[in-house]
Amino acid sequence: MEHDPSLAAVIREIAAPNAVWTMQETPLRLLEEALRRLPKAEVSDEERRYPTTPQGMRAFMDGFFARHFFQTQDSLVEYFASPAFEAVARRGYIHVADVGSGPSVASLAIADLVCTTIAAIRQMGRIRSAGRMAVHVALNDTSEICLAEGRSLLKRYNRGGNEPISIRRIIPISTPFSNSITQFRRIAGMTEPYDLCCLGYVMIPLSEQVGAQAFADGIHQLVQAGHGNGGRLLLIQDRFHENLHRQICHRLGTSAETADLKQRVYDSENQNSEHTYTYCRSRSPLSKVSGLTHSAVA
Ligand SMILES: C[S@@+](CC[C@H](N)C(=O)[O-])C[C@H]1O[C@@H](n2cnc3c(N)ncnc32)[C@H](O)[C@@H]1O
Repeated sequence: MEHDPSLAAVIREIAAPNAVWTMQETPLRLLEEALRRLPKAEVSDEERRYPTTPQGMRAFMDGFFARHFFQTQDSLVEYFASPAFEAVARRGYIHVADVGSGPSVASLAIADLVCTTIAAIRQMGRIRSAGRMAVHVALNDTSEICLAEGRSLLKRYNRGGNEPISIRRIIPISTPFSNSITQFRRIAGMTEPYDLCCLGYVMIPLSEQVGAQAFADGIHQLVQAGHGNGGRLLLIQDRFHENLHRQICHRLGTSAETADLKQRVYDSENQNSEHTYTYCRSRSPLSKVSGLTHSAVA
């Protein structure tokens, strides 16, 4: 991926000091507030992964939020240091499609990485290209509590005060993916194509619900509502489903890889330790997804 390695290095130094991913002040405050606010209880593994109740959401925030948040950021550093993002920053806003958003994990990670990138640009003395930015998101989830918590976290992020961004347009979509494509396309048609299309940890429910081919077809259609010139598709999945991940990427004509990420652990049982996780990801220009060559919003 074409990018500025020195900017990528400064972004990483801020977000992952000494190569350990660490939460910045605002997302950490949001996570801690959520853990205090939501009721703690034993829940099933299914409910913890796909929360539908406040108790399930508490368990998800505890076990998965920080991990998935860092994996999203780690996968997008090179994009944020690329000429494609520079053009987005000049335009003044970024548009995100977050499929199977949960409590808007990818959207928050992206908003926060915009802040880190602006801080890195300022640190490097390139102040002129580091003004304020707006973040617009379309959140798609079938779980009511995920959409509600996601909206609430994004709104609270704005109250951080000193952030150089504002999360402006938050559009929730409760229709199951890939029926939700109609809404994604309508939103893009009325506003702007998506710069980033993210699907974090949704391969299992979606390929079980509709089958791998229909899931890949849905991603195809989503990509057509994105910026063919500069936009990116991001897929993230745990390493235990590497075969499925590779199979979906193969259908999309994108490359699949595994990555290691060392992070501070933020679950309530295990504070202040570090852990390395291996995960699967695919980060591809939208123009490279199965031969698509240009933005084509209907
Ligand atoms: C494991 S969570 C992942 C949340 C978030 N993307 C992340 O990376 O942490 C998967 C989410 O997909 C949602 N989901 C399941 N089936 C869906 C569908 N057909 N359309 C949209 N979302 C769906 C679930 O409600 C759940 O919130």
